[in-house]
Amino acid sequence: MTTEPAGHLPIAEKVTFEHHEHGRLGVGEPRPRLSWRWGSAPADFVQDAVDVRVAVEVPGGPDEVSEHRLDGSDQVLVPWPARALLSRERVRVQVRAVDGDAVGPWSGAAMIELGLLEPSDWSAVFIGPVDEPHSEAGELRRPFRVRTEFTAADDVVRARVHFTAHGLAQVEINGDRIGDEELTPGWTSYQHRLRTATFDVTDRVQPGRNALGVWLADGWWRGLVGFDGGLVDAYGPDQSALVQLELTRADGSIETVASDDSWTAGTGPILTTGLYEGEHVDLRLHDPAWSSSGWDDAHWSPVATRPLDTRVLVTPTGPPVRVTEVLSPVSIDQKGGGRWVLDFGQNHSGRLRLRLDAPAGTEIVLRHAEVLQDGELYTRPLRGAAATDVVVLPGGPVEWEPRFTIHGYRYAEVSGWPADLDLGPDDVVSHVLHTDLERAGWFRSSDARVERLHENVVWSARSNFVDLPMDCPQRDERLGWTGDIQVFTPTAAFLFGVNGMLSSWLQDLAVDQTDRGTVPFYVPYLPLGSWKEQPVDPVAVWGDAAVLTPDGLHQRTGDEGVLRRQYASARAWVLQVQDRATPGLICEGTHQLGDWLDPAAPPEDPAQATTDPALVATAYFAHSSRRLAAVADTLGETDDAAYFADLADRVSEAFARRWLDADGVPLDDTQTAHALTTVFDLWPSSDAERRGGARLAALVREAEGRIATGFAGTPLICDALTLSGEIDAAYELLLSEQCPSWLYTVAMGGTTTWERWDSMLPDGTVNPGDMTSFNHYALGAVADWLHRVVAGLAPAAPGYRVIRFAPRPGGGLTSAGATHETPYGTASIDWVLLDGELRVDVVVPVGTTAEVDLPGRPAETVGHGRHHFTHDLGRRELVQTGGTTTGQEDAS
Ligand code: BGC
Repeated sequence: MTTEPAGHLPIAEKVTFEHHEHGRLGVGEPRPRLSWRWGSAPADFVQDAVDVRVAVEVPGGPDEVSEHRLDGSDQVLVPWPARALLSRERVRVQVRAVDGDAVGPWSGAAMIELGLLEPSDWSAVFIGPVDEPHSEAGELRRPFRVRTEFTAADDVVRARVHFTAHGLAQVEINGDRIGDEELTPGWTSYQHRLRTATFDVTDRVQPGRNALGVWLADGWWRGLVGFDGGLVDAYGPDQSALVQLELTRADGSIETVASDDSWTAGTGPILTTGLYEGEHVDLRLHDPAWSSSGWDDAHWSPVATRPLDTRVLVTPTGPPVRVTEVLSPVSIDQKGGGRWVLDFGQNHSGRLRLRLDAPAGTEIVLRHAEVLQDGELYTRPLRGAAATDVVVLPGGPVEWEPRFTIHGYRYAEVSGWPADLDLGPDDVVSHVLHTDLERAGWFRSSDARVERLHENVVWSARSNFVDLPMDCPQRDERLGWTGDIQVFTPTAAFLFGVNGMLSSWLQDLAVDQTDRGTVPFYVPYLPLGSWKEQPVDPVAVWGDAAVLTPDGLHQRTGDEGVLRRQYASARAWVLQVQDRATPGLICEGTHQLGDWLDPAAPPEDPAQATTDPALVATAYFAHSSRRLAAVADTLGETDDAAYFADLADRVSEAFARRWLDADGVPLDDTQTAHALTTVFDLWPSSDAERRGGARLAALVREAEGRIATGFAGTPLICDALTLSGEIDAAYELLLSEQCPSWLYTVAMGGTTTWERWDSMLPDGTVNPGDMTSFNHYALGAVADWLHRVVAGLAPAAPGYRVIRFAPRPGGGLTSAGATHETPYGTASIDWVLLDGELRVDVVVPVGTTAEVDLPGRPAETVGHGRHHFTHDLGRRELVQTGGTTTGQEDAS
């Protein structure tokens, strides 16, 4: 190892393990891949080699340190260089640059700690109250709590609690809630994968007697889930906890307190709680000492134990659900008689927190809705979800929020508020709740309406990423619909660090896939409505998530691991589509959702869109085959790469034969048909493509900028127009405020993106359709075009190792910009039209290069740093400055 320090070498910043937050406990990867970003670096800096220092903590002894020289320029998801880590090991990693004999300074240390990796690490067993049958009438059952007491030695240096549940759980030690994670352990395909959580409780455990208690709730395990009446006990009838508290003493020995038949079970103040129904709590029944030692649990019952299949236990790959923001009401409307209607100014997912001082027995009822009609909550779109919380107060000052429910709302009604009390903005606030994803992307423009549209997309993503990618946060559904996230993956991956969350969900997709390869409409799959059996027919757009979501993640994050893990699933999907297609490779005769919810589809039948569902399905067949060929190529599966490339060619030809006339003119003359044909590259000739592009632009003009696409066409139409050189028509669509259009929803006061283009009708009433959510993200997939084309920031190689800055100003916008936290660091672009000039500033992170492609100019390549371009639109001359010594930390 060289030790000569060199001042010219940059310092590594933000060292990360897989897709974990710094300091994450309970990690499951024994060989976590490492990534790092470089700080300020000279313009000619290229990473030739790095040293990685790995320090594994040894309880009661010095760290086990190893140093590893890694040659090459890779800095994203680099294979683990040290020995495999073991359960419970805590590891710190530092990185430094190496240049010949010179080394740079060490980075700060990044840390993670491993969870329990081996089934044999678990001595705990599942415990809970004796199962109660669900009543015929389907009433909610009262949730239980379990508790135990234990004695801790006076030399405990580290304490960790590992737990999971059938249902949802919150842990308390000595009267204190542990951690800030909500809805733990989240929702996975529980038969196959049940996630565990790990918390540091060193400060909570005291020498001598301690108590540990667990609140339980039905959650997704046995609570009501799904549409058409839904299911209860979907996974089992029990409420159970699996808890293992490990106390490490100064000499390194571990004492374990594990859930077993010595624990007791009893009820608490929660009378009922359900994700859709809301929570009913009588705080008069709450004794805060229940999780403290010495509490008399004589009236509690022994617990039932249940067998544990430790093979299903998995550790988290993404961040947990947390409260990420607190919203105060922007208006408070007193209705009289203790009833108030609050407007939080923003549709979101979360729950209310109350603070008041009122007599014992006061009952407060909280209702939630996305919209008002005539000044009152309008709850029909919630369908069967009561979304009502009830709390009976204990007397005296109290702060309260539900523990195990979540609602989607902008408005709330509070009733039962004491008549002599005012309700001020601090008395009832809303806790915004969703997966705590790291924000990664921003967009700005001179048009405030477009910025609001983008903000709405961000809020819909936040509201619907609740442990997994869901369709909506408010009604009796909230399922992991595959089609919704398939079309939204590129947008999601720009806005947030979604890789960890989606990696988990994709593993569920693979395990829920049928043996034949068919992908369920929603993951985790449950037998709901008419789908008592998993459908055997592949449904395009939805099932294509098996290929296009991992592919999209790889494009945006450079993570080949997700491609490898999902490869069998992706391959099985395409082969199943092929198997069910006609001998002529057309996808017809099978049930399809098609261009779901195009604006012409009748409210009661969203699949009755104008574009032929077989066209949509066959176009997707060609596209997924093409993308799978590329994935196979990346993974070195050369035979598959050739096979699927050939399949894609043959399907494309079949598509052209079936849906284009002899001159290459589409027979199905819809916005969606043209968009799919163009973006999926299905035109038989460039001539046909040119005519197709012109026809699509004409369709947009004939519609006076109104959109006519559903889930399939919407994410593609602006790209199709851009590719066809019809950018003006794309801006016409983007900027139209007529119904239906994106800005119509903004003009109608939307603060999130809607499920239907006209979820709210022009007269201000709510669409009568059964599915009318004001918080769906699919139609917000246009944001990806805002980022890539309006602002002009896109990946040109996986993980943005090559960035493409190609803004296409138009629509009267005078400026736009975007910033993205790429795996290499911050990339950004801002352009402004001023005095007949296009002025462009870009920031290129160290470790990447960028193609700058401005309208009317040949593209050029630049290295890391800041660059400024002035493009005289009159003379069409390009002047470039900059690009010297600036690094990514200057880019904010
Ligand atoms: C969901 C969708 C989903 C669709 C497909 C709806 O109820 O909310 O977003 O993709 O059904 O059938």
